Amino acid sequence: MPTGKSSVILGIESSCDETAAAVLVDGVVRSNSIAGQDVHRLWGGVVPELASRAHQEHIVPVVHDALTAAGVRKEDLSAVAFTQGPGLVGALLVGTCFARSFAQALEIPLVAVDHLKAHVLAHFIHDVSGERTVPTFPFINLTVSGGHTLLILVRSPLDMEVLGGTLDDAAGEAFDKGAKMLGLPYPGGPLVDQHAATVDPSRYKLPVPQVAGLDMSFSGTKTAFRTIVMNGERNSPGFVQRELQHLCASLQQSIVDILLRKLAKAARTHGIDRIGISGGVSANSALRTQVQALADREGWQAHIPPFAYCTDNAAMIAMAGHYLHAKGIHAGLDTVPMPRH
Ligand code: KG4
Ligand code: ZN
Repeated sequence: MPTGKSSVILGIESSCDETAAAVLVDGVVRSNSIAGQDVHRLWGGVVPELASRAHQEHIVPVVHDALTAAGVRKEDLSAVAFTQGPGLVGALLVGTCFARSFAQALEIPLVAVDHLKAHVLAHFIHDVSGERTVPTFPFINLTVSGGHTLLILVRSPLDMEVLGGTLDDAAGEAFDKGAKMLGLPYPGGPLVDQHAATVDPSRYKLPVPQVAGLDMSFSGTKTAFRTIVMNGERNSPGFVQRELQHLCASLQQSIVDILLRKLAKAARTHGIDRIGISGGVSANSALRTQVQALADREGWQAHIPPFAYCTDNAAMIAMAGHYLHAKGIHAGLDTVPMPRH
């Protein structure tokens, strides 16, 4: 059990379709509980109203589970950190209201966390099982999730500058929409990764978008992919089923190429030799391998969080809460969700 001097942070995440809670003691993860929401699979995407209802059902058991697994009592907590945004407003409201009430009842500080900054801080999560090399500052991070694709210059845990981002779809959205064209269920990203695993990605060529600076675009890739799928199926019924692996590999490689090119450009432009990836799409095996290969080629250091901290989780929210709480940056009990930046 933590002593009176420890920093014991409960983190709560409810921005999309995962209800999650985690406990961090002096910056070390003691528990990381998560309840997913299979209900969205039926609809081919996240249905906001269903997400809010599922969060309401899950939040009490998930928080209970996180506290129990950490061996921490409510009275031991130093602060409650929660995702304030961006995300779905109804989903965020559940976590926000729960965190506000919890902090008020326990008379402890409330900490409002930006979900995207938390994805970056996933690099600093340590668990009791062992050591990890964390990035030194400054470093360039590529945050790639279902809703966002951002290149960020990270100067310190609380000082981040956005250098570029997607002009249209997020990388995860491009994976999921491409997967949907192939008849794969939501979220299709991990399935594309699996189907692509063993084949050469060069059979179907997708265009390389010409976007200035450090911004990115995935809409051309998506349109070209749709054309290949539709023409293939029209000319030869059963095409998608026969070519599933190659189609997945081409889609994946084209998205990874766009991401890698801009990540490398950001590092070179800013003269920084430390790069990182985080967010759900950083679970992608091709992206992980190729970011590491890029770093090896260039003599850079690559930082890639363990899988559990790539996709949405509450350990990263607690980690961000840990840094904010240490600086005395707290939120009022009247804090409301911020669905958009
Ligand atoms: O960060 P995250 O869990 O939630 C958001 O904040 O959006 O990211 C979810 C996204 C989804 O689009 C999902 O398809 C994608 O991450 N994703 C992957 C993989 N695992 C998750 N995309 C490609 N390959 C994967 N292995
Ligand atoms: Zn996320």
